[in-house]
Amino acid sequence: MKSQSIYSSLLLCILTFTHFLPIAAYKCVDFLDPLDPSKQAIVDCPPTVNNDAYVKPVCAKVREAYDNAGEEISKVLKLKQIIHVNATFTDLFDATILGSAYSARYMSLTSDDKIMRNYPQALVKQFSLTVYPEYNADDILASFNAGQNWWFRTDNETIGSDQFDFYLIVLHELIHGLGFSSSWGNYIEVADNQNTTGLTPNVNFNDDSQFEGFTERIFDKYVKFIPNGVSSTSIYYTSQLNESIPIGTSFNNISEFVTQIKSSPQWDYAESALLSATTNGGLTFIPAKNTSWNEEFYLESSIIPYVQGSSITHISLLYESTSDFLMKYIFNPGESMEYLIQRGGNYSSPIGPRILSVLESIGYETDAYPNPIIPTYEH
Ligand SMILES: *[C@@H]1O[C@H](CO)[C@@H](O)[C@H](O)[C@H]1NC(C)=O
Ligand SMILES: *[C@@H]1O[C@H](CO)[C@@H](O)[C@H](O)[C@H]1NC(C)=O
Ligand SMILES: *[C@@H]1O[C@H](CO)[C@@H](O)[C@H](O)[C@H]1NC(C)=O
Ligand SMILES: *[C@@H]1O[C@H](CO)[C@@H](O)[C@H](O)[C@H]1NC(C)=O
Ligand SMILES: *[C@@H]1O[C@H](CO)[C@@H](O)[C@H](O)[C@H]1NC(C)=O
Ligand SMILES: *[C@@H]1O[C@H](CO)[C@@H](O)[C@H](O)[C@H]1NC(C)=O
Ligand SMILES: *[C@@H]1O[C@H](CO)[C@@H](O)[C@H](O)[C@H]1NC(C)=O
Ligand SMILES: [Zn+2]
Repeated sequence: MKSQSIYSSLLLCILTFTHFLPIAAYKCVDFLDPLDPSKQAIVDCPPTVNNDAYVKPVCAKVREAYDNAGEEISKVLKLKQIIHVNATFTDLFDATILGSAYSARYMSLTSDDKIMRNYPQALVKQFSLTVYPEYNADDILASFNAGQNWWFRTDNETIGSDQFDFYLIVLHELIHGLGFSSSWGNYIEVADNQNTTGLTPNVNFNDDSQFEGFTERIFDKYVKFIPNGVSSTSIYYTSQLNESIPIGTSFNNISEFVTQIKSSPQWDYAESALLSATTNGGLTFIPAKNTSWNEEFYLESSIIPYVQGSSITHISLLYESTSDFLMKYIFNPGESMEYLIQRGGNYSSPIGPRILSVLESIGYETDAYPNPIIPTYEH
């Protein structure tokens, strides 16, 4: 039992894959000495020829899960361009992390309301622009923690009460990589080693270290903050923070910047954003018109204190027993996707209508969302 999990925790699979296309090749890196992580070897690990007893099965199962997740996404999104995902499977030495993913590149585009926002590369590719910012080779960077006790459905065994469903987590992370991700965070105080007292979108400085305002992500166009019951759009908070310091002001270092912005009256908005993100019912998403879900719904704001990457950027736990379970921020061991689908209403896709409405709002085209039907997944 233990030795099995030790071997898999020493394994690093680096796979680059694309939706709908079979992987052409994949590589694994073997760690040769458990006490010396610098001793590594890159090996080919095609399932038919590699005879390393440990590498072969795990890398093959990981790859199959990635492929299946790409297929699942392509069932609901009408993707015009292939999406490249660079995913690693390695021990992250942190029992609290299952995986993470983000867009490998964000691009500044001007939205229809004339606000400049950051768009994830995978989405920009779908717009078929004639002129576009140069693309990164990868659209999505993903990382999964090989140190967890994973359950692979392709083993055809029942999930253990202490196991996590690998496929479920891959699908979750890919949705983040597609753009289910807010720009609001505590980056600037963290950069200055200060405690978190407020949140801001991404801050811009030019090459001369001059402040150039804040940039939201397209996701944030639909976000509403409700501190103390008073609601305001993310757009309003960002435009206020844009006024905190005159555009073009130079700073010698991040400390100077943080000190100045925190002494501006507009820092109140950063504080209100943090309050919203740490108050039940404090944060909502209002989908664009005519999407799969046409009502406002809550985003994650129950985590206290605020956790970067978990707060805001997930759907509220209020919906964990609905067909939108996929984008809750925490998964319990023993919860397979099949179980969650059955509990959530037996929709034909694990990508529920609220989640789909987020992807549609930011600009993905989808096929009409299917009604609840007979489960597609069964053991
Ligand atoms: C995957 O991403 C890593 C980290 O950014 C990078 O070093 C590597 O070159 C990428 N691999 C491929 C095949 O693109
Ligand atoms: C699991 O079941 C599927 C379908 O019956 C089969 O193709 C596959 O080989 C099985 N996997 C294992 C590891 O037994
Ligand atoms: C951060 O908060 C902790 C606990 O409240 C406190 O001890 C520490 O001095 C604070 N650090 C800064 C830089 O304010
Ligand atoms: C904030 O300022 C930046 C830089 O001037 C601008 O591009 C962006 O549209 C502004 N955002 C809002 C919400 O006002
Ligand atoms: C930031 O710059 C100011 C002014 O040059 C200087 O006094 C201060 O020590 C610097 N702080 C850090 C953390 O480098
Ligand atoms: C709403 O969506 C439907 C189905 O995608 C489409 O046919 C219709 O034109 C849309 N209506 C508007 C106002 O965008
Ligand atoms: C989903 O289907 C299963 C099996 O048919 C059933 O037991 C369960 O009650 C259904 N779930 C919901 C929420 O209707
Ligand atoms: Zn997540």
